[in-house]
Amino acid sequence: MQSPKKVYLDNAATSPLDPMVIKAMTDVMQETYGNPSASHSIGRKAKAVIETARKQIAASIKADAKEIIFTSGGTEADNMAIRCAVNDLDVTHVITSPIEHKAVIGTCEELEAKGIIELHLVQVDSKGSVDLDHLESIAKQYNGALISLMHANNELGTLLDYKRVSSIAKANNCLFHSDTVQTMGHYVCDVKAFGADFLTCSAHKLNGPKGIGFLYVNKNLNLKPLITGGGQESNQRAGTENVVGIVGLAKALEIAFANIEEEQKHIFGIKTYMMQSIQSKLPSVEFNGINTFEGGLYTVLNCSLSPQPNNELLLFQLDIEGVCCSGGSACNSGASTGSHVLNAIQHDTNRKAIRFSFGRFTKKEDVDYAIEVLSKLLVSETVVI
Ligand SMILES: Cc1ncc(COP(=O)(O)O)c(C=O)c1O
Repeated sequence: MQSPKKVYLDNAATSPLDPMVIKAMTDVMQETYGNPSASHSIGRKAKAVIETARKQIAASIKADAKEIIFTSGGTEADNMAIRCAVNDLDVTHVITSPIEHKAVIGTCEELEAKGIIELHLVQVDSKGSVDLDHLESIAKQYNGALISLMHANNELGTLLDYKRVSSIAKANNCLFHSDTVQTMGHYVCDVKAFGADFLTCSAHKLNGPKGIGFLYVNKNLNLKPLITGGGQESNQRAGTENVVGIVGLAKALEIAFANIEEEQKHIFGIKTYMMQSIQSKLPSVEFNGINTFEGGLYTVLNCSLSPQPNNELLLFQLDIEGVCCSGGSACNSGASTGSHVLNAIQHDTNRKAIRFSFGRFTKKEDVDYAIEVLSKLLVSETVVI
């Protein structure tokens, strides 16, 4: 029988809506139904709501309003950055890593298979850190390439030294795209200090709605629309705007940035607590990725559990007991094949990797419950050690 208790430790997959975001969106749903392209007052009101949100978002990451293009989320923003760089900016070589999100790696592989680009994969180590010396040597060889490297890996949490990547890109006339889907709103962001040409954001990773995000594009770049039709988004992305989603995204970012230090402290506290508690209960646990505050995403803890007879069933059993977490990335719809990230870091296939990810609403009691259930399920733990 399904346990009535539920704990949600899968915030890197998606996060619950903040009640203040729901309120902002509900107000707009009720009051701002106009088509933003319409010339009458009801349409103009919707347009004004979008432009206010754009300005607010841009100011919060020190960008210009015209550098923010609203998209349907992170996947579309990643696609737009890569495909537009290829279509409009003469990119024929893309340098990325084997542990990028499928939105990046899948897009690059498709372009390579069609003979449109040559793809170069930079090495990563067992913690998911990108070998930046290797990156530099590839960038030197393929001057003018697009470098696409994520700020934080969504499965492991390992952070990228983006400053060094940016300086490698600049020194070799490369463009730099960083998938910041897991970090936007979780760290202070200044696009100029980041030094990337493209950054991506998805609202549902920061207690905002699904189906909305943005691509930051450096204003010196001239892109043509990937989705054609109307001239929305300054002719960069056609389609009637998701007004409600845009307002939700702006509110979610506003809340995130207003409370960033407090939130970092709270969530990193939860992560540290989980690391300590799980280690004391299950001493054979290992942690994938980098887990210091400086080196890893404070919202993600990827645990590598000792081999168990019920390895394959573990996630299912956790779910039955009301613990929501994930095996790899939940963004691969229904995927049960091994994680390409864990394969790339050569994670021991006999061990089971489970990603717990935390958010604003996670409590220590949630962690206690998850560890209690895990200890009950890992029956052979004492035998295996
Ligand atoms: C790193 C990363 N990039 C891109 C995406 C895709 O974003 P979206 O779900 O908004 O399409 C996700 C998660 O889904 C992600 O974790």
